[in-house]
Amino acid sequence: MTAPDKNGGADVAAQQHYFATCPKGLEAVLARELRALGIKAVQESIAGCYFECEQLQAYNACYRSRVANRIVLVLLRREFDSGEALLAAASACDWRVHIDAGQTVQIDFNGSNTFIRNAKYGAQLVRDALNDYFRAHGEGRIEIDAANPDVRLYARLFKRRFTLGIDLVGTSLHQRGYRGEGGEAPLKENLAAALLMLCDWPAMAAEGASFVDPFCGSGTLLIEAALQAANIPSGYLRDDWPLLRLLSADHAAWQDLLGAAAVDIENVSLACAINGSDASQAAVDIANRNIERAGLSGLISVSRAGLESLQAANCFAHDNGLLLCNPPYGQRLGEKAGLDALYATLGSVMKDNCTGWQAGILSDDAELGWRVGLRSFRQHKVYNGNIECRLLRYRVSAENALKPRVNIETGETDVAREAAASEKMPAVQLSDNAKMLANRLRKNLRRLKTWLASQTAPSFRVYDADLPEYAVAIDCYSARPLQQFTKTSASASVYKQSQNSNQNPGQLPAHKQD
Ligand SMILES: C[S@@+](CC[C@H](N)C(=O)[O-])C[C@H]1O[C@@H](n2cnc3c(N)ncnc32)[C@H](O)[C@@H]1O
Repeated sequence: MTAPDKNGGADVAAQQHYFATCPKGLEAVLARELRALGIKAVQESIAGCYFECEQLQAYNACYRSRVANRIVLVLLRREFDSGEALLAAASACDWRVHIDAGQTVQIDFNGSNTFIRNAKYGAQLVRDALNDYFRAHGEGRIEIDAANPDVRLYARLFKRRFTLGIDLVGTSLHQRGYRGEGGEAPLKENLAAALLMLCDWPAMAAEGASFVDPFCGSGTLLIEAALQAANIPSGYLRDDWPLLRLLSADHAAWQDLLGAAAVDIENVSLACAINGSDASQAAVDIANRNIERAGLSGLISVSRAGLESLQAANCFAHDNGLLLCNPPYGQRLGEKAGLDALYATLGSVMKDNCTGWQAGILSDDAELGWRVGLRSFRQHKVYNGNIECRLLRYRVSAENALKPRVNIETGETDVAREAAASEKMPAVQLSDNAKMLANRLRKNLRRLKTWLASQTAPSFRVYDADLPEYAVAIDCYSARPLQQFTKTSASASVYKQSQNSNQNPGQLPAHKQD
């Protein structure tokens, strides 16, 4: 790595090392985004990606990345065995290339290990390193300003590995600047952007597909969808760029970049329709204010509507589109119980209106995905803050509609249970053979109970062809028993046999689920 020239601005041809941070679970999306920005040497890490590139490419990433939280110019990245060794290495970095001793500094130190037991001590070590460095060069001590520093240093310790660098962006990049109010449980802007990217929204938008969020809340997905569709850089509303306060800043290159990416926001037009709705008028008002702040009024339509009233709504008029949403969570809004019905309604709206569309649902409970009644073709694990979630993706079509599941405790199908609850249809009863199998499953579950309590594995085999009548394997994929029929050659023949015997829908092996 060649250091930038202090007097003549940065040597923009020099390759430098950077680290882009992102929410856990989005590392692969960020890596793809950085590569799409022309950066070749990208390496995924935990909650971020390391990369190597020229300064101008790093500037471009700062201005355009929709997924990153911060971008750090890395000055030191090594393993250490002691605080003294770390201090010595940090004081040997060439700080004067980037920082003037007169500038105020804040040190964001994260992590601890056996020799740096807390972040406060770690930050103190880095501060000492800078003071040692500047003293050795005949300059004064650095001044700390926690609230409004000229330069923010990023220090991260993971086990023995220590990374130290200069934060180029200051305020996290997810704060685009359009969100004045968040409403209830809003998504972070960079998570919303990543969900859209995971659903291939940019390519769909380029083909004129429609976008719908029926739980739009403060409008984050709608706004990010419009920004991606119009190729508006994520940093278009920002005016504070700490990277320009560094001695190594290349102001001319930055101005060129801004000039080339300039957005005439007044005259942006979209080839696709973007529609949101929410049951809450307060949420609709917040979304409209956020859309206005983003400069996107007129490009996004938001209305007050409960999900239940969305049948045959105009927003579904196009035959190609993406429905993406994060319905209320049991943990954060509402109660789990009511969510079963909400997801079932969402499924009906999708099946009745969105044939040929793609859909994505962000949920903290993948089990609820089954309530939609469609087979999900892909699931992505992501984190909404600290909550582990799944983005469940669907292709909406009659072929992907799920048949009803059977509850082995009661013998009812999902459909029958719902219908029984609404007194429209009696619950389906198990046949004698199916009761025998259900009894065996109950017995096996009882036998496995103690072992299960000590396990963290997400799946286990509860039944392995125990009964000659049912030569199938049944795996359980969650706390709630699911039936997964693994067809062996033996099971295939039983499956066929049971179909031939006109098994009714209440009999267990009548359909396969995944
Ligand atoms: C988790 S929030 C969505 C947050 C949104 N993605 C954002 O970034 O602001 C869920 C939203 O669903 C709305 N909601 C709840 N039940 C609804 C229903 N039956 N129909 C339509 N909207 C509903 C709530 O008002 C809330 O704004």
